[in-house]
Amino acid sequence: MKILFLDQSGKPGGAELCLLDIAKPYRHTSLIALFADGDFRNLLQKSHIPVQILTNQTIKTRKQSNLIQGLTSLTQIIPLITKLIPIAKKYDLIYANTQKALVVGTLTSFLSQRPLVYHLHDILCTTHFSKTNLTLAITLANRFASLVIANSQASQTAFIQAGGNPNLVQVVYNGFNSQKYQIPDNIVQQTKQELDIADKFVIGHFSRLAPWKGQHILIAALAKCPPQVTAILVGDALFGEHDYVQQLHQQVRELGLEHRVKFLGFRHDIPQLMTTCDIVTHTSTSPEPFGRVIVEAMLCGKTVIAAQAGGAMELVEHGKTGFLVTPENIEELAHTITQCYKHPENIIAIANQARTTASQRFDIKSINQQISQLLCQLK
Ligand code: UDP
Ligand code: GLC
Repeated sequence: MKILFLDQSGKPGGAELCLLDIAKPYRHTSLIALFADGDFRNLLQKSHIPVQILTNQTIKTRKQSNLIQGLTSLTQIIPLITKLIPIAKKYDLIYANTQKALVVGTLTSFLSQRPLVYHLHDILCTTHFSKTNLTLAITLANRFASLVIANSQASQTAFIQAGGNPNLVQVVYNGFNSQKYQIPDNIVQQTKQELDIADKFVIGHFSRLAPWKGQHILIAALAKCPPQVTAILVGDALFGEHDYVQQLHQQVRELGLEHRVKFLGFRHDIPQLMTTCDIVTHTSTSPEPFGRVIVEAMLCGKTVIAAQAGGAMELVEHGKTGFLVTPENIEELAHTITQCYKHPENIIAIANQARTTASQRFDIKSINQQISQLLCQLK
């Protein structure tokens, strides 16, 4: 099958990393077209997935966009669509992986007479999106998409609650190659030495730096944990959240935690880093649509403490494959971390169960089969 995948981002966020795995089996016949250049292009090229950058200008639709901003972005969208239509005619279907890709993909699909698939990576609610963007996404999906793939039940439910057609939407979780998360012990020891954390109890946090990912909640909780407990924060501000980064550094200084928090920036060695941690926390303050980092930590055989909302509740079974805590509840998070620190023997079984369950439920081969079956039905 020849697929034209569309994604608005040049940066490797979770939706893009998910797309990379979905596109791999189709790489001999398909193309990923991006609306911006960046590190994601390099990752695709490393995996030998054909990629084309359509513009060097990022389309400026913001979450809170109004009609005027909408019209301004139309002047950016039209040249994109003009470029895309002759390309689209060489492919069997258009696969929009982000919201702006849905807008561009809808018009391209309509004008090139190719079916449209929308992979929904978001919880479509007003916490995350403006009303205008919500209505636009739902209207376009209902009217033009032949299939909507939701990354979790939580995303599916929000889509339907916002007016999305229930008959269009199917849940397919992100898939992972569990072997990538099995790291030899010598590498783990070496990484610990390099990071100077060999004798510490280490909490890992692996999200991009953004207010709703809640790194500030972890820092506040850390201040209430025993002094041997330290944290590594892995990830960068991918979408311009530089003020938040400053705030986090200031919070660390104000709480006197300079020696207990390391900011490692964006890294490509996530499995190694996760495996060096004792536990991994996820602290999103708004419901996480899926939460790749949660599954990745489970695959590394780590106990995850995750915020109890959205997709995280489908990934972690409290007390069996990890812990769920009330979002933004600093005391509860600090208490759960401290219990893990004081009784490490109690979390071994949980971590083992997490690895087994995650490798069964999120195996990339079976996830790709599910996608392939859904796409074949559209032909
Ligand atoms: N990630 C990464 N390097 C980093 C931080 C994160 O490669 O420094 C990856 C992480 O392993 C995960 C993805 O980025 O696969 C983030 O996806 P997730 O679904 O957790 O959150 P998103 O950022 O998409 O909302
Ligand atoms: C989005 C969501 C994240 C999800 C990822 C992959 O980036 O924010 O929760 O894991 O897509 O579906």
